[in-house]
Amino acid sequence: MTDAPFFAPAEHSLDDLTIRSYRPGDGLALQRAMASSYAHLRPWMSWALPDQSLEQSEAICRRFAAQYLLSTTFVLGIWRADDLIGGTGFHLRDGALATGNAEIGMWISAASAGQGLGTRVLAAMLAWGFTAWPWERLVWHCDTRNQASARVAEKNGLRHEGTLRANTFDVTGQRRDTHIFAILREEWAQQTP
Ligand SMILES: CC(C)(COP(=O)(O)OP(=O)(O)OC[C@H]1O[C@@H](n2cnc3c(N)ncnc32)[C@H](O)[C@@H]1OP(=O)(O)O)[C@@H](O)C(=O)NCCC(=O)NCCS
Repeated sequence: MTDAPFFAPAEHSLDDLTIRSYRPGDGLALQRAMASSYAHLRPWMSWALPDQSLEQSEAICRRFAAQYLLSTTFVLGIWRADDLIGGTGFHLRDGALATGNAEIGMWISAASAGQGLGTRVLAAMLAWGFTAWPWERLVWHCDTRNQASARVAEKNGLRHEGTLRANTFDVTGQRRDTHIFAILREEWAQQTP
């Protein structure tokens, strides 16, 4: 552990995509992505709203930007040119930055899902996370019914560590089970040519 200030890397390139922190002015792109993907996201993402206004979207982007600069959580957009086609992030849900633990979250827009993008973006997040960031352990949580999400984790070599039973609630308010997947820095290094 160290008291040195942490300056988070701001962006990462992946072929034609850029994974970067949000900025003031991103609200319109976020509003568009939410409006076109609501039905796709809603079963799994409790924060998805059917009619998020431009002002709400802009406020969310500015909050994400502020949190990023303060190193309280690291929410990232996935951009293809000016289109926001998904989101990801390193979330401090399992201890402070100094623990080296972070949880990766992800959504891919309805128009871009099912084309291998989630798998590619998670691979990029592991590579970036274990090289430019201080992470030692990266975790992925998903509803046990979310087969696409579980496959994205498995295909990237994350180990299924267990299943929490009825530990949280789905978007309808029903209790649901959660798979925990994780990968350690040395495991990632071993599986990476
Ligand atoms: C989950 C999600 C991030 C996956 O990203 P994606 O780009 O759609 O996934 P990929 O195209 O890389 O596919 C990964 C695997 O999931 C499978 N898959 C994709 N959509 C699926 C679906 N609807 N049902 C079952 N499996 C599915 C693919 O076939 C592939 O597995 P395979 O290689 O064994 O065939 C994306 O679908 C999404 O944003 N879903 C809604 C939000 C969400 O669930 N986020 C994750 C919360 S933990």
